[in-house]
This record gives sequence, C-alpha cells and structure tokens, in this order.
Amino acid sequence: MKNLIRYVGQLAATFNPPQAESKLQRYTLRSFHSFRTRIAQTFSEVSIILKTMRVSIPKEIKMGERRVAAIPDSVNRMVKKGIEVSVESGAGEGALFTDSDYAAAGARIESSVPTLFGGADVVLKVQIPVLNTTVGRHEIDMMREGSALVALLCPLMYHDLVRQLTSRKITAFSMDVIPRVAAAQGMDVLSSMSTVSGYKAVLTAANALPKFFPMFMTAAGTIAPARVLVLGAGVAGLQACATAKRLGAVVEAFDQRPVVKEQVESLGVRFVGVPTEEAAETAGGYARELSGDYRRRQAELIHKHIMKSDVVITTALIPGRRAPVLITEQMVKDMKPGSVIVDLAADFGGNCELTEPGKEVIRYGVLISGLVNVPSYMPVHASQMYSQNLEKFLFHVYDGKGLKIDMEDEITKGTLITHQGKIVHKMTLDAMAAAGGG
Ligand SMILES: NC(=O)c1ccc[n+]([C@@H]2O[C@H](COP(=O)([O-])OP(=O)(O)OC[C@H]3O[C@@H](n4cnc5c(N)ncnc54)[C@H](O)[C@@H]3O)[C@@H](O)[C@H]2O)c1
Repeated sequence: MKNLIRYVGQLAATFNPPQAESKLQRYTLRSFHSFRTRIAQTFSEVSIILKTMRVSIPKEIKMGERRVAAIPDSVNRMVKKGIEVSVESGAGEGALFTDSDYAAAGARIESSVPTLFGGADVVLKVQIPVLNTTVGRHEIDMMREGSALVALLCPLMYHDLVRQLTSRKITAFSMDVIPRVAAAQGMDVLSSMSTVSGYKAVLTAANALPKFFPMFMTAAGTIAPARVLVLGAGVAGLQACATAKRLGAVVEAFDQRPVVKEQVESLGVRFVGVPTEEAAETAGGYARELSGDYRRRQAELIHKHIMKSDVVITTALIPGRRAPVLITEQMVKDMKPGSVIVDLAADFGGNCELTEPGKEVIRYGVLISGLVNVPSYMPVHASQMYSQNLEKFLFHVYDGKGLKIDMEDEITKGTLITHQGKIVHKMTLDAMAAAGGG
C-alpha cells in the first residue's frame, strides 16, 4: 500500500504531457497541471503521515562544482528501499544527468529550493552548505530542525560551519572523516575522489609539458621519456604513479611513511625516502608532522630529485592542517625550464611555496598548476563514485523508517559531527579546542 501511494505520487509529479497547440488543449493542460500539483502534494503529505524517509538532492551551487551527490542509479535503489527522493531541477546537469533521468529513476523533480530543503529528512550534498544567493537564504537555514545532512563538511577546518549546524540542530555526517576501516571501504569518498585527482593531475601535466611522456625510437632519433616525481604516495599519489607509468614516463615517488615503499614498488615506481626512527604515521595510517631535522633532510632529498624531473605531482596532506610545504622557491628556480608542477594540495594551501590556489602560473619558466577541486573536472565518474559511496553510507544508517544513530557503531561514530544541538565528534572537538574555539 505504502509503495503504491508513493508510486502514484511520483507518477503525478513527473508525468510530462505533450505540448498544447489549440486553445482547448491549453485550457486542458492548465487544468491538468494544477490537478497534477494537487495530487503530488496530497501524496507527499500522505507519505509524511506514513513516515516514509524523504531524501533531497539539491543542485550544488558552490562555484565550479559540477558533481551531484546522487546519480539516477543510486536514486533508483533508494526508491526501491522505500525512500522518497526529491531532486532539484537541474541538479545533475553538470554531471550530464537530466531531470528525465531522475524522474525515470523514481525521483520527484522539485524546482522550489526552500521546499526541497525544508521537506527533507535527509539532504545529500557534495560541498559544504553555503548561502544560496538566488533565494537569499543559507542552505542550512532552509533545512528543518532535526533533519540530517550528509556531505563533505571538512569539520576539522570549518569550525564556524560546525557551530552553525549545531545551532540549527542538524544531524550532520561528514564523509571526509569516514574511518579508513575495512567495513567502510565502500563508503570511502576520500579514496574515490583521490583516485580521480591523481589520474587527472597526470593528464593535466602531460597536456602542459612541452615534451612526450613515453620514450620513442623513431627515424628522427630517440626521444627520452619524461621523468615524473610524485610527492606523497597515498591514494592520489599511487594513482598518479600508475597513470604516469601507463603513459610511459620514468616515475619516482617520495613519502614520509616508509610503509608505502612496497606499494610504490609494486607499480614499477622507484621509492625515494628519508630514513627516520620517528613514527611517521598515526594509528589511522595518516602522516604526522615530523621534526625539524627530518624536514631539513627531506628538503635536501627533494631538491636533488626535483632538478632532474620534468613533472612533479604533489599530494602531501596532514589531516586538519595546512598542507606541508615541500617545494621551496629556490627548488622551483633550480628546475628545468618548461617543467610542470601540479599541486593537488592546493585546496589546503599547496605543497609548493609558489602555488596560487585556483590558478595556473609560470614562475622561473616552470608551470605551476594550483587547480582546486580537481574531481569536479571529471564530474561524470566523480559523481558516480561519490554517489555509490554515499548510497552505501545511507543504507548503513537507514533502518527502513529513518536514520538510526548508534554511537556504538564505528562508522556512525566516525562520521557524525553534530546531533541534537551538540558537537559529538571527538576529532572535531579536539581540533576546535586546539584552535582556541570549542
Ligand atoms: N579503507 C582503507 O583501509 C583505506 C583506504 C584508503 C586509504 N587508506 C590509508 O589511509 C592513509 C592516508 O591515505 P590518503 O591517500 O588519504 O593520504 P592523504 O591524502 O592524507 O596524504 C597523502 C600522502 O601524503 C603523505 N605526506 C603527508 N605529509 C608528507 C610530508 N611532509 N612529506 C611526504 N609525504 C607526506 C602522506 O603520508 C600520504 O601518503 C594511508 O595509510 C592509506 O593507505 C586506507
């Protein structure tokens, strides 16, 4: 019964009649439209009474963002689980999904942004919520108190946003702090997005480099392969290594965590590292900040390798901190003219002293790309991967009626930032206390 009611409501909301040509047809269509709206509203109200969980997917409005939080395939699987899904008209445009694709997947297409946000039990987003200048309201303020938000919120950095979510009593989950445990592997958006970035960084570099990547032996002579240095061999770095190898370059990779040596070498890439007795990584497998002495020896090693490289891809990050500076101005000066640096850490300040986030600049004859939000440059597959991760997460916390908040569950505990007007995430609380906020 519940499914039938939802189905009729969705059908009424999404059915598109043919164009009217005569006066009578126009009159009939107008009547049909108002009837359709009434039916859709009625069925939406009935679904509230029946306590169907309502999920909304808005169009991303942050400048340059082309991804969408859920693609039609995921929407269809949500609908099949009894979830009522509304999608803002045009939400999938940037990633080449049309309203009709969503309607065919069972979503209701909504053109009123306040209705979309206000009618949701759960809002699924990619970017942090921002002010919607078209409707003149902040996305958080359009949400109902007690409703939930799932997005990339960067809570370790955006403390004001966390406070805003708390004061609106939003149950906020941040996908960028999902624990790196086997059970959460299918929900790991950081790995998905890093895969896209690592691949795209190499193509960006290959496109800008005034040389070939592979070695060629031609009648016009032998062309030496490009030399690529990857700094930071996490998920993005390993993907960059693999892509540069596929294009035929000679690749080296550097990381402060010695454990990555084996992973790098399994790709046929040479590992360069500075031996150290210090613990280079946290229990969670992330890099930790090392001593001044280590950093000096690291700088010397990078300087030596950078001078021989045609391309440097940098990916080094320390969670919750500004990205470490690994390439100084002097190192850039000593690179060969025409070389390329793609700084994937630009979103967090950059690994190169001369990176200008969001810009491509030439300094001392070296092109430095500070592209930000790189996954958005491949919106189709980036959205597909993000959507799959989000869908798995949603189904993990969905109990058939609504979201279950089980703080004993490692995944919930790791991602839940604010709930019932409180900050409940330890890492976020620690980061806020360290920043002097709290
Ligand atoms: N589900 C899982 O189990 C799972 C999935 C993905 C990643 N991981 C692990 O999570 C960890 C983090 O991976 P990530 O890709 O998110 O990393 P990241 O994006 O946080 O950092 C990128 C790389 O930069 C390196 N780095 C940081 N500071 C550096 C410095 N000063 N000099 C040199 N290198 C520096 C880090 O060691 C890391 O390898 C890794 O241990 C990875 O294997 C686990």
